[in-house]
Amino acid sequence: MTETVKIIYEGKTHEFPVVEGTEGEKAIDILQLRQKTGLVTLDPGYANTGSCTSDITFMDGEKGILRYRGIPVEQLAEHSSFIETSYLLINGVLPTREQLNDISDLFNDQSLVHEDMQKFYHNFPRGSHPMGILSSMVNALRSFYPELQTIEEEINITVTRLLSKVRTMAAMSYKISRGHKVVYPRSDLSYCANFLNMMFDTPVKSYYIDEDLVDALNVFWILHADHEQNCSTSAVRLVGSGRVNLYAAISAGIAALWGPLHGGANQAVIEMLSDIQKDGGNIQRAIDRARDKKDTFRLMGFGHRVYKTYDPRAKIMKEMCYKILEKLNIDDPLLDIAKELEEAALTDDYFVDHNLYPNVDFYSGIVLRAMKIPTNMFTVMFAIGRLPGWIAQWKESIDDPKWRLGRPRQIYIGPEKRDYIPMDER
Ligand code: ACO
Repeated sequence: MTETVKIIYEGKTHEFPVVEGTEGEKAIDILQLRQKTGLVTLDPGYANTGSCTSDITFMDGEKGILRYRGIPVEQLAEHSSFIETSYLLINGVLPTREQLNDISDLFNDQSLVHEDMQKFYHNFPRGSHPMGILSSMVNALRSFYPELQTIEEEINITVTRLLSKVRTMAAMSYKISRGHKVVYPRSDLSYCANFLNMMFDTPVKSYYIDEDLVDALNVFWILHADHEQNCSTSAVRLVGSGRVNLYAAISAGIAALWGPLHGGANQAVIEMLSDIQKDGGNIQRAIDRARDKKDTFRLMGFGHRVYKTYDPRAKIMKEMCYKILEKLNIDDPLLDIAKELEEAALTDDYFVDHNLYPNVDFYSGIVLRAMKIPTNMFTVMFAIGRLPGWIAQWKESIDDPKWRLGRPRQIYIGPEKRDYIPMDER
């Protein structure tokens, strides 16, 4: 028998079905709430609202679980590649060897960016943030590649094109920002190796591709590949619900990710750690400021809307951070500050009481620094990683026959009706 929830309002009882997910998560289906009761729900920040059903990603914030299409992220980080994980997220199954080869070939075919696009890049003011540039350029892709997306095959090409070109575009924006010659993608290199090469190869010094860094980048991107209905993914779904093209929806996701409370936190963490370093390594001052309700300062890279325990991605990122620094023989003073800060926060009663643990961004910046990725490119790195997730979520939503235009309600608390006052009577 279907479970129901009863709502008693104005003396009448209304029943609403309870929906249950594969992992036992339950929700009240309020599709008919307004129709039956005249009421809407009020849930700022949507902390209690399921916006959709989805079979892409499962996370349990209390137990620290994250799975893509059922597979634990730990297993994917250990055994998979970013391309294979992207395929899994978008298509729902792991690819066969042949399918993986086909997709890799497609990535090569699609990896070049229209030469005219470079002109746009050159016209952004010096010092423009790469996230603003990336968001604009992804939106501009629609003008350069206006193919329709009505046929399955065309959607697949658009998806592959986007995944392949974003990597080229990100590296291109870095090269142009430095006033250097753009390095083109190479067909003999893997997705991650190609990216590092496009970033760091120069006509006067060939880039040595370190396989440990390639592996680290694979893991970094796998860990960021999807995270169910977070701020940027919800932006992609909401914007996509107006039936805009994929590029426009993803451009909205990139813009949403930019914020320091979301993907921008990886840049903010490094800035915070550097500030603590300049402050003589005063960890306690940072903790005290984060606890102080009159101070707007927060410990960046700490806390999460869903995780109330250690973020499983942060665990892997931390291990990788140690491994890569040791392997490359790098002594990064920010790692020492991060370790001390983590220890202090995890034993501080405020952080314990508020269930505040390191999230994925806490150690990721140190990994990116080891790869020599400039700080203002950190969130771009996150965006490249999140792309398969955004695409999978967008695809799922447009394929869902029940998916409607996203349009929340509000409770108006402004002035009651009043008359317009002519200018000279005000
Ligand atoms: N430092 C200090 N206090 C914090 C922190 C933090 N990093 N995060 C949350 N809190 C406190 C809040 O002050 C609040 O305290 P109160 O209940 O005593 O008033 C309580 O914890 C709950 O905080 P909310 O902001 O309501 O929690 P929410 O779920 O909305 O926020 C968020 C989650 C935005 C991630 C928050 O923890 C934060 O700002 N963290 C720092 C930024 C960050 O690292 N973002 C990356 C998140 S992961 C990602 O998006 C990729």
